[in-house]
Amino acid sequence: MSAIDAETGAVHALAVRLAREAGAIQRARYETVLEVASKSRPIDLVTEVDRACEALIVGALRRERPGDDILAEEGGAHADTGARWRWVVDPLDGTVNFAHGYPCFCVSIGVEHDGRRHVGVVYDALRDELFEAVRGGGARRNGQPIEVSKATGVGRALLATGFAYDVHDSADDNLDRVVRAVKRAGGVRRDGSAALDLCYVACGRFDGYWELKLHPWDVAAGLLIVEEAGGRVSDLAGGAAPASGREILASNALLHDELVALLR
Ligand code: IPD
Ligand code: CA
Ligand code: CA
Repeated sequence: MSAIDAETGAVHALAVRLAREAGAIQRARYETVLEVASKSRPIDLVTEVDRACEALIVGALRRERPGDDILAEEGGAHADTGARWRWVVDPLDGTVNFAHGYPCFCVSIGVEHDGRRHVGVVYDALRDELFEAVRGGGARRNGQPIEVSKATGVGRALLATGFAYDVHDSADDNLDRVVRAVKRAGGVRRDGSAALDLCYVACGRFDGYWELKLHPWDVAAGLLIVEEAGGRVSDLAGGAAPASGREILASNALLHDELVALLR
């Protein structure tokens, strides 16, 4: 193995370990009494478990990868020194679900190398499903290779989407697209975890997914997992998928152009 390959292996193994450790906290605290607070809006929640998971992941990264940059959702770390490796961490994706005891949430850890998506790990602790990808190495669920669906035609496709926390007071609320998709597609779901939505595209459960106003930590792992599973990711117009998460369309590739036409 070259030096970079050996380091990729170490980064990947650490991401898997930390996702599993944070997931164990989520499993243990699921359906227990939680401290819950609001962030940007009353419906934008953070729980003590989001913070505990972030502290675990960031603490380990600071000890074991002190030279790397870290972007973590709950503000536990925002090191941007221009390091070659950057960890983009959503300690608990699906916080509203978690706070309500709705069983759809995960840990998402994406790692960039020289600004490119390089490693992605998403762990759903309740189902014990670990989705992962390393650039150029394909995507896996619990160690088995996964690939996107073969669906052609939006008319039978199962699509997913989501809504930003400003949905109560923003006119840019995604509802017009949802109406168009509901009228055309085989089905439309809103499950409340962007990282899992992307992994479900990667393993063929969903044929397509779009969402606006996401953040880097929502998509850093999932976009790579979709790409490595043979899917396509873009903005809503079919251009490059922004790492910011501002506007994301992911599909099995076969449906992509039709979805661009439907959603743009
Ligand atoms: C949210 C979830 C949700 C999406 C929101 C995200 P959080 O992340 O991914 O599905 O619709 O836009 O912010 O707040 O649970 O980490
Ligand atoms: Ca999130
Ligand atoms: Ca989160």
